[in-house]
Amino acid sequence: MTEAADRAFTIAIDGPAAAGKGTISKAVAAHFGFAHLDTGLLYRAVGAKMLLGMEPGKAAKHLTTEDLGSADLRTPEVAQAASRVAVIPEVRAALLDFQRSFSRRAGGAVLDGRDIGTVICPKAEAKLFVTARAEVRARRRYDELVAKGDALSYEQVLADVHERDARDRDRAEAPLKPAPDAVTIDTSDLEIDAAVRTAISAIESRLS
Ligand code: C5P
Repeated sequence: MTEAADRAFTIAIDGPAAAGKGTISKAVAAHFGFAHLDTGLLYRAVGAKMLLGMEPGKAAKHLTTEDLGSADLRTPEVAQAASRVAVIPEVRAALLDFQRSFSRRAGGAVLDGRDIGTVICPKAEAKLFVTARAEVRARRRYDELVAKGDALSYEQVLADVHERDARDRDRAEAPLKPAPDAVTIDTSDLEIDAAVRTAISAIESRLS
């Protein structure tokens, strides 16, 4: 194993829904050979349990890795539920240690979410803020949902995006915002390959 592979190196990638951070995070993790954690899944899993009637704080404390594997976590209902449980300080506190210890694992880690560069890993070696215009994000999400056979209209998806953005940005605890030292990538007018290349070169300049 090389020296670099033993090192902890954290890449924090934040941004609003459907800006492309999931795709960029996966590509970046594959490029550098780092482990990847989609932290939105933690909130989605808690949101899904709330929809089943469980108290969100309790659900967050007892979350297991099996809870993160369900395909049902990718629905619009669960996304909205996730952003509702994400405003609860007790939920955020229960998920903190897991995310922090993942971020310092040997061999490097990529975490994507809303508060990685600001709250979870303020000392991350590289920070990106991936964003795009709301209409572009809604169009991408709409196309994904149509491909899965969902019957939502574009207007509904756009309203959902605005609602979730507002809840994520305006909450008191760990609101969505770029860390002062984050590199912002606006993917509105970028092909995904170009966005990934921009992300990789921004991170490479921090690695050397
Ligand atoms: O990224 P994703 O769309 O899966 O996230 C679902 C919701 O989880 C977000 O709208 C946000 O409210 C919440 N979240 C968060 N902090 C994170 C990741 C996700 O509050 N680090």
